[in-house]
Amino acid sequence: MAKFLPLSAYVEYPPEEMIRRAAAFKSEMTRRRTVRQFSDRAVPRGVIEDCLITAGSAPSGANLQPWHFVVVSDAAIKARIREAAEREERAFYHGRAPREWLDALASLGTDENKPYLERAPCLIVIFAKTFELLPDGRKVKNYYVSESVGIATGLLIAALHHAGLVSLTHTPSPMGFLNEILNRPKHERAFLLLVAGYPAEDAAVPDIGRKSLDEIATFG
Ligand SMILES: Cc1cc2nc3c(=O)[nH]c(=O)nc-3n(C[C@H](O)[C@H](O)[C@H](O)COP(=O)(O)O)c2cc1C
Repeated sequence: MAKFLPLSAYVEYPPEEMIRRAAAFKSEMTRRRTVRQFSDRAVPRGVIEDCLITAGSAPSGANLQPWHFVVVSDAAIKARIREAAEREERAFYHGRAPREWLDALASLGTDENKPYLERAPCLIVIFAKTFELLPDGRKVKNYYVSESVGIATGLLIAALHHAGLVSLTHTPSPMGFLNEILNRPKHERAFLLLVAGYPAEDAAVPDIGRKSLDEIATFG
């Protein structure tokens, strides 16, 4: 039976304030960059916790919240993840990847070496749950899993950036090794690995562009 509450958390801003806030948020978010050189400085656990709570506030199909986040800071586990990821990446860069895909990656300067998987203080592995397993063994199907987990991941990336950290969206393919290393059940699919921390002092980012508003949006 549905139960309703007043929308007491909503805040309306006068138009000028709204315009100012939208522009300020645009400036804040458009300076976000994917970083591939990390410092080994530790990050406060409370910051990561708050960012995860933000991610967990994402809308989801039927509010089923089909995600699970595993935060890895243990050096031995990070080393195992690096080893397994680099094995997959070697197979990708030197065999599996079609020429077209390698061409698309050329401007980023990426390769099979992933030292940041050990150096960064924090790896957040995001799992997508195809169904929920109840304590009595029953399965409850989740809906729009990829869409929901993608939105939660976007909020997480934004929250980390807003807090003053940098991140790298990493997708070694396939990612099944993460279930094994992190002891996650089969019905959870490793969705994405987010490397988070401070940038290295000499961090540099690829000189790439973003599409203009005209290219990405149409107003009818
Ligand atoms: C789904 C997804 C997968 C990605 N996988 C990788 C990856 O495996 N390795 C990597 O170095 N960057 C990866 N990236 C980062 C993109 O290359 C990066 O977001 C893009 O080049 C734009 O750069 P920016 O984030 O600095 O704007 C991925 C990004 C997304 C959204």
